[in-house]
Amino acid sequence: MSDHGSQPATPEQPSPPEKPARNLDAYRAHYAERTTGMTASEIRALFAVASRPEVVSLAGGMPNLAALPLDSLAAEVARLISVDGQIALQYGSAHGVPELREQICEVMALEGITAHPDDVMVTAGSQMALDMVTRIFCDPGDVILAEGPSYVGALGSFAAYQAEVVHVAMDEDGLQPDALRQAIADVTAQGKRIKFLYTIPNFHNPGGITLALPRRSEILEICAQHGILVVEDNPYGLLGFDGQPHPALRSMDADNVVYLGSFSKTFASGLRVGWVLAPHAIREKLVLTAESATLCPPTLNQMIVSRYLSTHDWQGQIKIFQEQYRERRDAMLSALEQYMPAGCTWTRPDGGFFVWLTVPEGVDTKAMLPRAVTQRVAYVSGTGFYRDGFGSRQMRLSFCYPTPERIREGVRRLANTLTEEMELVRTFGTVPQRSVPGPQAPSPDTA
Ligand SMILES: Cc1ncc(COP(=O)(O)O)c(C=O)c1O
Repeated sequence: MSDHGSQPATPEQPSPPEKPARNLDAYRAHYAERTTGMTASEIRALFAVASRPEVVSLAGGMPNLAALPLDSLAAEVARLISVDGQIALQYGSAHGVPELREQICEVMALEGITAHPDDVMVTAGSQMALDMVTRIFCDPGDVILAEGPSYVGALGSFAAYQAEVVHVAMDEDGLQPDALRQAIADVTAQGKRIKFLYTIPNFHNPGGITLALPRRSEILEICAQHGILVVEDNPYGLLGFDGQPHPALRSMDADNVVYLGSFSKTFASGLRVGWVLAPHAIREKLVLTAESATLCPPTLNQMIVSRYLSTHDWQGQIKIFQEQYRERRDAMLSALEQYMPAGCTWTRPDGGFFVWLTVPEGVDTKAMLPRAVTQRVAYVSGTGFYRDGFGSRQMRLSFCYPTPERIREGVRRLANTLTEEMELVRTFGTVPQRSVPGPQAPSPDTA
């Protein structure tokens, strides 16, 4: 018997005629209107290119799992299935496994949050929580305030529900309170409804910036004054490189903050376990929304996380991750210092995964990307992190996945590409657009 399934058809046994492909327009005509805002993110398209081994990818935000204790985890999972398989492989409640919800409260206590497990709902990653919160609150045309730039996956969810995003500027201390006041005044003057402020206060994706402590209470006050809910997205909060975690916004205001957490960056992103902590009234709607989407979050994965938290030194593991990412951050910052041409600026993150780089006037990071990929380095152009066309002079560089040596080499290649690009700008005033190279280096937008 063949290992490879059925034998290929011989000339004597012609394969059956292929059915004519159905015209794409026939489907398109039936799509719901809300799907028009749903387009592939630049990051998703990039994965195909960046995964080629010769390319140093400073693009994706994949956590580095090499330091996880895989053997003891494997033994734990085997034990879990043999002892509690009847529960672990069964449906559960939409609310999540009770023991895990209690443990999540202990995790959040590290950031000063006091919460009751009843108000925690487990989700398939915080991405699902983002989708649910948007589904509950936003009608088409409603406004969500978000930092500019903002997390691309959140922008995708907002677009899917036809919400409008108004970006609020950040500086090196995070979201600017005055810019927030101005945005609220402008949107209100236009007669539009603001549904919530979406913010990533710690080690921002993609900005690499952390909201300064004095600003935290000011931002909360402004939102409370205007009756605007705050959605605090905090997957990187425990991955700071210096000292204690910052107090969560939710620790300062339990009534007006919906908090999103995740085990993706501190344990294992593939398990897809995150959570939402919401004021009691909202939590009821969240449970109903989750039921309609998935019935319940995956029981086995929740129990794996729960066992991991109770049997492993998870805080020690987070320290290992912090050390690893700190070393990579240092490698990136020193390489940027060494190689980047004059006129470039970048953020200096105290935690998380990302550096936000601004290049000199005239260079378009999206147009440059295919040329960078031919030089075997990938990044994400800044435009993907805005809904309003900004970001063409910016790019996100991630230091979480490649080794320090690869990071240094990647930054060196990027600096060379950038230097050549700046030379073209100086010579021609603009960079001549080249057609996208062939399959060796497809444009990330088309890959
Ligand atoms: C700011 C932010 N929010 C949410 C997510 C989604 O995380 P999860 O894996 O928990 O769905 C990410 C993932 O990169 C992120 O960076």
